[in-house]
Amino acid sequence: MNPEIAVPAQPFNADTLDAIAQQLEHRGYALVPQALPPETVDALFVELKQLPEQYFKPAGIGRQDDFQLNRFVRSDQICWLNGDSPAAAGFLAWMQTLREGLNRRLFLGLFDYEAHYASYPTGAFYKKHVDAFKGQSNRVLSTVFYLNPQWQPNDGGELVIYDENDQHELERVLPEYGKLVIFLSEVFPHEVLPAQRERNSIAGWFRVNNSSAWMADPAR
Ligand code: OGA
Ligand code: MN
Repeated sequence: MNPEIAVPAQPFNADTLDAIAQQLEHRGYALVPQALPPETVDALFVELKQLPEQYFKPAGIGRQDDFQLNRFVRSDQICWLNGDSPAAAGFLAWMQTLREGLNRRLFLGLFDYEAHYASYPTGAFYKKHVDAFKGQSNRVLSTVFYLNPQWQPNDGGELVIYDENDQHELERVLPEYGKLVIFLSEVFPHEVLPAQRERNSIAGWFRVNNSSAWMADPAR
């Protein structure tokens, strides 16, 4: 534990929650340029930079039995957040207030949240994909929170979001420090373009609980 980087567990304020809910309702995704207070963002950035390299593992595709590494699809490194550190605990507390705020406004029934740090070395990418297939996943809302100080347009590394039918581009999002992107996991194909420098983020998913008497909902 490092008390210097403790994160104040402040909630999202009502105006921000209203704005996010409205964007989600009207177009299925929300862009929030400065989602958290600067000291919270700094604490997360410090922690990410301090994490020993061996905590990061090459990211895979699919889940559990389906899990496979495929360097042609994605080449980032990930480390799951478990809330052990003050910064990560603060971030998860924030996302908890987002979960509750969105449930209250949109009746989504979001049950929990899972998230990992993701580090894309220079040139790394994540090819076009969806985060959840209809009826096959309990991931409902995806979040990406960026931790890249002074990101410039020519650094690349944009998140490109396509429309539901994969016909045209909807957004090209620069992974700027403190920006939060939220989108419906089953709806939008998206990809991460290669960047000219290391690109860091926290990717996460709000989930519904699909447990039944027969099968416990699988863990991540
Ligand atoms: C993901 C993802 C987007 C980004 O991790 O599934 O699509 O901008 N990330 O990092
Ligand atoms: Mn994704």
